[in-house]
Amino acid sequence: MSSCCAWPAARAGQRNHRIRHNCRIRKGENTVTPPVILPNLTQYEHLGIECEFNLADGHAHQFQDPAQQLIVRQLPSLFAESERRPLRDLEEEFRLAFYGLAGQPTAADRRRTLLCQSASQSIDLVAAFLSAQGTQVGLLRPCFDNLPGILRRRGALLRPVAEHDLTGPGLERLLGEGGLGALFVTLPNNPTGFTLTEPEFARLVQRCATAGTLLVIDWTFRFHTGCERWDQYAVLENSGVSYLCVEDTGKTWPTLDMKCSILAASEDLYGPLYELHNDLLLNVSPFVLRLVTRYLQDSAERGLEATVRWLVRENRAVLRRGLRGTVLAPAGPVATISVEWMRIGSPVLSALDVVGLLADAGVGILPGDHFHWEDPQTGSRYVRFALARDPAVFAAACARARAALVAAALPRREGAA
Ligand SMILES: Cc1ncc(COP(=O)(O)O)c(C=O)c1O
Repeated sequence: MSSCCAWPAARAGQRNHRIRHNCRIRKGENTVTPPVILPNLTQYEHLGIECEFNLADGHAHQFQDPAQQLIVRQLPSLFAESERRPLRDLEEEFRLAFYGLAGQPTAADRRRTLLCQSASQSIDLVAAFLSAQGTQVGLLRPCFDNLPGILRRRGALLRPVAEHDLTGPGLERLLGEGGLGALFVTLPNNPTGFTLTEPEFARLVQRCATAGTLLVIDWTFRFHTGCERWDQYAVLENSGVSYLCVEDTGKTWPTLDMKCSILAASEDLYGPLYELHNDLLLNVSPFVLRLVTRYLQDSAERGLEATVRWLVRENRAVLRRGLRGTVLAPAGPVATISVEWMRIGSPVLSALDVVGLLADAGVGILPGDHFHWEDPQTGSRYVRFALARDPAVFAAACARARAALVAAALPRREGAA
């Protein structure tokens, strides 16, 4: 069995603080490398890339299906076309293809969109804007830790917001007197897949509009849920709320990280965001725009089910079947997002223990600690598996993960079926 070469001891010499733990797990002859806490999830993703099976980062790494292979064969002509066609045409074609597939006619009609090379670049613009306002920003917890990372680096004052606060009576308290200047949510949420129904979203938007709270929504995983069934931008526009939306293609189509993110703004915010965007970049590569547009058009022709969703559903089922009876169990029964959030059923095991154990077996995953950016202890009961992978490779990774968990014969808590 080959194993992950770079996991943690090798990296422990860096400035990372070694966490205290009492658990060295017997795995046959070997002991699992002691866990080390790294500063952020991206560093665990780097380790995942070095593993034989990388189920760490949430980017789309599945192989091309036959129709997508045809697009790849057209790369030279797509390149030539990108050279010749006016950039504005390519940008407009991309925008229309994206919002058409996303089922967002209101956004397609309006042109208050800025294109960025990655979702993180869009988020950095949002962070720069929010920090200049000097207001308190409510941020969903759990969430991917580059959101608090970027926001804090830009000087934003963060306050954690629980998912249930968005749907229950907590919302009134949150947005009440002296409430938040801005609220930043990811829908569907990475890692949990939590999302809002249309009435819940309408209520959130209306409350933000009434309270004068700027609403920021990261929709980067939108194509993995049924978001296309109703027009979120219509709800936003009709409410009069100040909003910023972050969109992305990188979590959905396997384009080797050639991707495009959209930062969309309400009328009142577009001007200042446009200025900030000008400081950062002139344009996204016309070739990247043309390429991702082809993938969007292909998904429009063949459907999201055939091009995106079946694979995630199948891999999730394989993972759940494969890990049944081990210490890992799905955190929630229903999920469609392209990552699986799993609860650790053993009280003696932390997320870092599980991540280390699987990494030693050649499978890279993410610990939950950093997703709970204000309360890592809560996150340490969870790990995250990425699902957007080739099914055969993914099945082999699941078998390896199961074997490692079973071989370690870890104690299991009741209910972790
Ligand atoms: C919810 C969310 N938004 C934005 C990003 C940033 O995406 P990128 O790494 O493509 O810039 C991530 C990264 O995983 C994410 O999970």
